[in-house]
Amino acid sequence: MNTKLWTVDKQDPIKYSYPQIKEASDLLQEGEVVAFPTETVYGLGANALSDQAVLKIFEAKGRPSDNPLIVHISKKEQLTDLVDNLNGTARKLMDAFWPGPLTLVLPKKEGVSQYVTAGLDTIAVRMPDHPVAQALMEISRLPLAAPSANLSGKPSPTTAMHVEEDLIHKISGIVDGGATGVGLESTVVDCTADVPLILRPGGVTKEQLEEVVGDVEVDPALIHQEEQHKPKSPGMKYTHYAPVAPVYLIDGSKEFLQRTISASLSEGKKVGLLATEETISAMNTTGITAIACGTKTDLSTVATQLYDALRAFNATDVDIIYSEVYPEQGVGVAIMNRLEKAAGHRIIKE
Ligand code: TXA
Ligand code: MG
Repeated sequence: MNTKLWTVDKQDPIKYSYPQIKEASDLLQEGEVVAFPTETVYGLGANALSDQAVLKIFEAKGRPSDNPLIVHISKKEQLTDLVDNLNGTARKLMDAFWPGPLTLVLPKKEGVSQYVTAGLDTIAVRMPDHPVAQALMEISRLPLAAPSANLSGKPSPTTAMHVEEDLIHKISGIVDGGATGVGLESTVVDCTADVPLILRPGGVTKEQLEEVVGDVEVDPALIHQEEQHKPKSPGMKYTHYAPVAPVYLIDGSKEFLQRTISASLSEGKKVGLLATEETISAMNTTGITAIACGTKTDLSTVATQLYDALRAFNATDVDIIYSEVYPEQGVGVAIMNRLEKAAGHRIIKE
């Protein structure tokens, strides 16, 4: 398949890149799959109202069919066709955080494609805060089902080039609107119970949610990794975000990290280090591949750069990747959630 590439203005695509947006929107209306930027990561979009179009997403990504998709909308009125019953909590969260990196799980309306929801009686919906995503939905007049635009198991794409690496010749087009901002996927919150439940930590933090709706719970499957906790968000059970070489999280001092690296080097291994700028500049990185990922003074920079850094290791010949850990506060919760998955929960404690 020939994959079209369009480069568009990311501030005002309708004004400055109308022909490109129109061409991409036409393909979406014809039931094709097109990747586009959102403020979190690139999405792989298709008409959410068409079974045929939605099935193409699963095929292109190699995504298991029991993993439901998020439906993206540009106007609240579109909820009428998708959602059965909006409670007060859901309304408050939408008013506070939409458009933005928050996905709400709500009771689904009859008639919504069973492929979108993987047979569940709930639907995940979000309104992205990105002019390019909004322009595509406005011009195509469609709600777009869109998972992250990576091959299943790979880190989510934060640039059009990451999408190309994974999906060239497998999809009809890629709209390049530059690098995404947040860098990690949206927070997924189940609003069907009395107390909202975080199913996936992300760009909107638990603290921010609680300021708007009071108590918020966290899916126990995110805290305890034991078998008996089956995650309520089907996607959270799959290995994700992993580069080719195994990742180990090092929970300890810089000296411990340095000793761990030295031990691997003396075994003849080629070592990669994923850490903040400050950690890398404080360490002896002779003979290793160190890739910097943001600064500790602002964890949102780590979130923005994490997936690009993980992918960058695939262009190196390292046998093993060591990563430092981050404080589990604010966006640090989402960073650690993704790193633990990238590491398959391999953590070495001092
Ligand atoms: O930031 C994002 O959310 C990006 C951009 C493209 O919007 N999208 C994204 O989609 O991360 P995806 O498919 O990679 O992740 C969707 C997550 C999965 O963990 C899935 O299991 C969960 O949302 N999900 C979808 N529908 C659900 C439902 N009805 N109930 C529970 N979890 C659901
Ligand atoms: Mg994904």
